[in-house]
Amino acid sequence: MHGSLTFTRPDDVIPDEERPGLLRALPVQADQPGDTRRCDLRDLAAAHVVEPGLEEAGFETVDLSGLPSLQRTLATVREADHLSDEAALAIRESLSGVVLGLAGGKSLRIDYVVDDGLFTRRAGPNGLNVNPGGIDGANGHDSAQYVHGDQDVFGTPLRQMMHGGAPDLFRHISPDGRNDDSDTFLLNLWIPLHAPVQPLALMDRRTLDAPRHQLRYGLPVDGFLERDERASVNDIWAFLYDEDQQWYIRTDMGPDQGYVFDTLGVGHGAAALVGEPELEQLFISLHRTCEALEDGDDAAARAAIGGSTIALPPADATPTIAQAGQVMAALLDEARADVDSSAWCGRARAAMDGVIRRSIEMRLVATLVNG
Ligand SMILES: [Fe+2]
Repeated sequence: MHGSLTFTRPDDVIPDEERPGLLRALPVQADQPGDTRRCDLRDLAAAHVVEPGLEEAGFETVDLSGLPSLQRTLATVREADHLSDEAALAIRESLSGVVLGLAGGKSLRIDYVVDDGLFTRRAGPNGLNVNPGGIDGANGHDSAQYVHGDQDVFGTPLRQMMHGGAPDLFRHISPDGRNDDSDTFLLNLWIPLHAPVQPLALMDRRTLDAPRHQLRYGLPVDGFLERDERASVNDIWAFLYDEDQQWYIRTDMGPDQGYVFDTLGVGHGAAALVGEPELEQLFISLHRTCEALEDGDDAAARAAIGGSTIALPPADATPTIAQAGQVMAALLDEARADVDSSAWCGRARAAMDGVIRRSIEMRLVATLVNG
């Protein structure tokens, strides 16, 4: 399986004057193209792919099927396509104190779900923006198009929040320091609500050459996290591409599974799978056709439907993507004839809805326990 991931461009890297020996990534402007690379993605759904494990690789799949109250809440979030304050509270309550088994025989006890960072994401095929209203609290976030690591244990805001104690409290591997002794982790928990496209890809951190490819990055946080001015930049990590990095996805993932991964530096980002660029074009054509039909603008509808040469996902796309492409192309074929616009638009919108990736994520303080 392969797909594309977007990294920092080598031209955007400078030496780090504050922490000599490290590298820094320059600020990225909105819509600035990154270094998009075709990567081999190991599909954890495939029988022959062995998952490396949290302590080794920095991430692991966890089974959430035995948490009925969490599953009920996730179903309501999926149904409403919205994370309410009540649902967020219910999710926190259903996870606090829970013990999750890990593949290596140890377990992870969730001590608490932290205040910042519980939100949902929505993304169309190939990262298409499907959040016209933008970010609204815990909703309206796009998928993460740049490969990144979520938090520098030595940086803002952990330094201020924990008065410099974070590197001693949390287990971490950073380019200029590590703590292997602690059993306390700061982890992300990522749960797909529906993920036919834009799977979260995670890097096995043992395959990262951190001094050369892990970059300090100051992410402005205005607009989506409530922080005071001193903490208006979030110190995270960016990454350069390297062919030795090993990347993992899981193509058969639903809300009964999640990933835990180390917030303090594991590289991750949304991958575009084979066929997503074609699905994106089909999505845009269906969307524009719907808008034109609903406006009664036949000329615009004909233009949006396009010719009969619209490309389908290639043969090596996942069955889900291939089938979605067939359905969407058939809808456009149908629209070339005279259609009942309201019935057709209903079906077209359902087809578009079916290829939107929805996920929910949060930060956990968790303790590794034996057995
Ligand atoms: Fe992230």
